[in-house]
Amino acid sequence: MGYYVPAKDKAGTMQTVYFDYNATTPLDANVREAMLPFLGEIWGNPSSVHHVGRHARAHLDDARDRAAKVLGAKPSEVVFTGGGTESANLAILGAARLLKPKGHHIITSAVEHHAVLRCCEYLAQREGFAITYLPVDREGLISPDSLAAAIQPDTILVSIMAANNEIGTIQPVAELGAICRQRGVVFHTDAVQWLGKEPFDSIHQFNADLVSICAHKMHGPKGVGALYVRSPLQPAPILMGGSHENERRAGTENLAGITGLVEVLERFVRHPVFEGDRLTSLTGRLLRLIDHLPGVQFVGSRERRLINTLAFVVEGSDSLPLLAGLDLEGICASSGSACSAGSLEPSHVVEALGVNRTLAHSLVRFSLGRESTLAEVEHVESILPEVIRRARKEVTGISVLR
Ligand SMILES: Cc1ncc(COP(=O)(O)O)c(C=O)c1O
Repeated sequence: MGYYVPAKDKAGTMQTVYFDYNATTPLDANVREAMLPFLGEIWGNPSSVHHVGRHARAHLDDARDRAAKVLGAKPSEVVFTGGGTESANLAILGAARLLKPKGHHIITSAVEHHAVLRCCEYLAQREGFAITYLPVDREGLISPDSLAAAIQPDTILVSIMAANNEIGTIQPVAELGAICRQRGVVFHTDAVQWLGKEPFDSIHQFNADLVSICAHKMHGPKGVGALYVRSPLQPAPILMGGSHENERRAGTENLAGITGLVEVLERFVRHPVFEGDRLTSLTGRLLRLIDHLPGVQFVGSRERRLINTLAFVVEGSDSLPLLAGLDLEGICASSGSACSAGSLEPSHVVEALGVNRTLAHSLVRFSLGRESTLAEVEHVESILPEVIRRARKEVTGISVLR
């Protein structure tokens, strides 16, 4: 197990540059404050009939009303979950199992988060569903025409993310949702990376029947999220037990977490906590740097991209030495890949863009946020060329040893 050793500045003090906001964000102090009573004096089980339970129930009902108000939904259309992964699992497994009598065909895209892709794989392998993976163009965009052409008489569900976590590409979700609605197909969108970053007016803007949401990508607590379920849809539950959440999600509600989620919805969604102009200017500066470095290629869409996200691949290197090199300089970045046994899988998202497998191995993602500053960007500008040089040397060294 390695431990993170932060870089020191000239005065010897620690200097951490956190450019990994798409992975998670720090808990907002006011949100934390609002959660505290639910880790203390308000501890009842909302399902208990006595007054301690009824007190907790009143807070849970209030939280659902508040969440629904921000989303522009009915309270009964909000299902609280254990995070974005669970929301997406409930949407896909739950809708597929509910709608199975109508058909077995599901459409998704090659660039979805694994919370969606693994469910589709499971349904194909174990439950007899057929999955179509829509391709994307060089920028990671799905064409509405390709969706329209892929819908068959037995298509029951389409799942396309609102914004991509690895490269930030923003899909034409409203258009895709409108096609599904017109064709009578249930549409799920994973909006985990959208909320708090991009303009939000109402949940209806996505033209979706199911929308996955989570708190920790916008300064809320980890392990809590919500699924918007457009009435009268009733996805089959994936957690069995009590009749919580209107029979849609068993398990005693995490009232502290739910309060944290509601707080971030109220504070950070209609007025996105990720400030557009400031972050566009900071990521624009990093983009100019990337464009000038030899053998370094920007990946994604220059026009339709989350304001805080910038991804690139590096010829002759690998994500692991690049991320380790940045980390040694105090810079927290990410690749889109899962780390298993010390090696990184190439990014399925970058491969789907048509980038070759070797290059897809070298993805680096910077995702900036509320606390990111110009000084941090300047630090990265000063250090990145050297980190790349060292990482290339390391990779060459490894291949010689092989
Ligand atoms: C697009 C997307 N969907 C789903 C998830 C899963 O959310 P959670 O971490 O809350 O389970 C993530 C988190 O990385 C994500 O980026």
